[in-house]
Amino acid sequence: MTSKTVGDALRVPSPSDSRQTRPIREDEAGDLIATAARAPSVHNTQPWRFRLTDGSIEMFADTRRQLRMDPDGRELLISCGAALFGLRLAVRSLGYLPVVELLPALPRRRQLARVSLGATAPITEGERRMLNALPHRHTHRGPFAGAPLPDGLLAALQHDARAEGAMLAVIDPASSDYLQLGEIASAAARRGDLDPWARAEVRRWRRAADSRARDGVPARAFAAGAFPDQAGRRRGRLRQRDFDLGRGMGLLTADGPPAAATAVLITRGDSQADWMRAGQALHRLLAHAADRWVFASLYTQPLEDATTRALIRDRLRLPGPPHMLLQFGAAQTTQATARRPPSEVREPARRPSAPGAHHGPRRAPPPVPSAVPENP
Ligand SMILES: Cc1cc2nc3c(=O)[nH]c(=O)nc-3n(C[C@H](O)[C@H](O)[C@H](O)COP(=O)(O)O)c2cc1C
Repeated sequence: MTSKTVGDALRVPSPSDSRQTRPIREDEAGDLIATAARAPSVHNTQPWRFRLTDGSIEMFADTRRQLRMDPDGRELLISCGAALFGLRLAVRSLGYLPVVELLPALPRRRQLARVSLGATAPITEGERRMLNALPHRHTHRGPFAGAPLPDGLLAALQHDARAEGAMLAVIDPASSDYLQLGEIASAAARRGDLDPWARAEVRRWRRAADSRARDGVPARAFAAGAFPDQAGRRRGRLRQRDFDLGRGMGLLTADGPPAAATAVLITRGDSQADWMRAGQALHRLLAHAADRWVFASLYTQPLEDATTRALIRDRLRLPGPPHMLLQFGAAQTTQATARRPPSEVREPARRPSAPGAHHGPRRAPPPVPSAVPENP
């Protein structure tokens, strides 16, 4: 296939690429949705719904799963953007270019995107590798192996972010920027961990070791006790969100070598479309890293407070609003975090519309053919 970046695709939506070539079949939809639902989401809330309509998969935000700490829905839309990337990648496994229509979020329905099968194009090696990495990709809160990142990986992840319309700013661990970031993040995490609403929300979404829940953050994915500030800084790890809250539930140890790299995911603007972009970029670069057995700790607690978010942008001189702090490291072990089955995230199918009937919102932007482009 000719690899086309999403940026290119946004500039030149070729009419032949942006047409549905054949409908997605019912027997394909389950796998496509299951792959989309492997996406990371804040507190593993999985705030998405899908529906197969007229051969396309529509994606909705499930605002019942929106966090109180996320009143604007930014983290919800980053999560949904990540699921959209998974859906695009899954469509590539069928040998088609995904045609993505980003839909303006409607006040009540929260319909976000519609994905159809576009032109045929065999899946590339890079896409296949990302797809194969999805089952073992996970948010890594335990110790890293301490090995350096594979040569060129960080630059390739920056390329991933750019290809999705975002940016990955790498922070030198020896710089004063890193120290400042560590201090700001620690102070914000300490405040967040004391906030009764934030604590209630963590209690709602963390899961005990014997829980059979298919959402939320399981005890084996977080440490007992927050990272102490001083030790956290020495280890080169930012202070993590405290899922344990003094209960001794977490099964991970919070010790180990420093992270191999620290980065901030940013976009140019701060609109809902930017949040969706950030989510697609996030999932893409995490899948790419996981293919090399590199995983990331993710941090949004310091960005949930507008003042702290602005401070981080200002102090690090970032060219856009930050959406996620990431620390990367190699790790050999993995245990995937559970997801709800497709039956729980699917809406019943709508009755097919009459031939020629338009089923989308009136002023939807033109369809966007979006291959997952190769990395250099
Ligand atoms: C928008 C967003 C915000 C997140 N914020 C945090 C965070 O502050 N701290 C954390 O440890 N993990 C964070 N995560 C990771 C989620 O908790 C994780 O994706 C979820 O539990 C599913 O687990 P998995 O990534 O291992 O599949 C965030 C993920 C997303 C998409």
